[in-house]
Amino acid sequence: MKVVVLAGGLSPERDVSLSSGSLIANALIENGHDVLLLDLYLGQPDISKAKFLNKGSSKRYSYQIPSTEPDLELLKKESDNGDSLIGKNVIEICKACDVVFIALHGSIGENGQLQAVFDSFGIRYTGTGYIGSLLAMDKDISKKLILLNNIKTPNWRIYNIQNSDDCDFSNITYPCVVKPCSCGSSIGVSIVENPDELNKAVNYAKLYENMIMIEDKIDGREFSIGILGGRALPVIEIIPKKGFYDYVNKYQKGMADEVCPADVDDSIAEEMQSIALKVHNILRVGFYSRIDFILDKNNEPYCLEANTLPGMTPTSLLPQEAKALGISYNELCEQILMAAID
Ligand SMILES: Nc1ncnc2c1ncn2[C@@H]1O[C@H](COP(=O)(O)OP(=O)(O)O)[C@@H](O)[C@H]1O
Ligand SMILES: [Mg+2]
Repeated sequence: MKVVVLAGGLSPERDVSLSSGSLIANALIENGHDVLLLDLYLGQPDISKAKFLNKGSSKRYSYQIPSTEPDLELLKKESDNGDSLIGKNVIEICKACDVVFIALHGSIGENGQLQAVFDSFGIRYTGTGYIGSLLAMDKDISKKLILLNNIKTPNWRIYNIQNSDDCDFSNITYPCVVKPCSCGSSIGVSIVENPDELNKAVNYAKLYENMIMIEDKIDGREFSIGILGGRALPVIEIIPKKGFYDYVNKYQKGMADEVCPADVDDSIAEEMQSIALKVHNILRVGFYSRIDFILDKNNEPYCLEANTLPGMTPTSLLPQEAKALGISYNELCEQILMAAID
């Protein structure tokens, strides 16, 4: 099949996406497809240069994630795309292929906007449709739906930083977690132990979004559970060597231990798996996802969020969980691709 792997984009998570996208593209090439890795924001100004690679090609894709978050303003200046989030010829190239493998993270790739555009053009794509993407990306909406279904999630409040009436922080309890309402990869997230640290955390979160959340911090162990084709994968535990699971601990090698299957009682693992599947379905997520949890000191699981486009390098959490079931990385990419055709 002719597959476009769409990555990058004007998103704070573009580097993570380009890394996942390169590896997905290489896996699909090995699986026998003709594959083009395309940057959603930069596009391909010269369509004749949109060359698909196949098994016989000498070239493969590669991308190393820098340790600092990308400078999107600089990227905008260097390209001439301005505020247009879909780059030159992206729609044309995607229309001419069989399936688009969405390897984007954050922004329009994950919040349903791109999925709605693709639906309008009749372009086939992997993963979740626009409604599920939107519901899962907005942590305020998803937590409301999660709570409505009697699943525990940390207490939270939402603030619109642009509206000063909304910014009375006097009732906040500590420790808390400050985060943008619709970001990912821990970008803009801070753990705040006392009132002195609050301002800095709010300023960091609002670099990314005006809607910010302040959530009770749950003390405990962190777990994540992948969902693939209607079933929950084995539970993975994340143990950062220092601090919490922030951007650096997520993407720089050796900063966190990840244990799969996690060392927890079967009953707790099964409970988290069943909640994860429920959350996946409540939020109308598609073929695959990853649901994040904190298990508190009393072994109560609190659902943090659902990811419709989880990290997809071979060492990312979902691929590790699939591997624990004997599903190789290449097979995982193939299953996700094929589900888009069904
Ligand atoms: N309420 C919380 N209690 C404890 N840790 C939290 C809480 N919220 C977030 N974290 C930490 O911050 C990380 C990122 O938060 P998360 O809500 O999953 O946002 P993102 O979409 O950026 O992954 C989590 O993986 C966890 O380590
Ligand atoms: Mg998360």
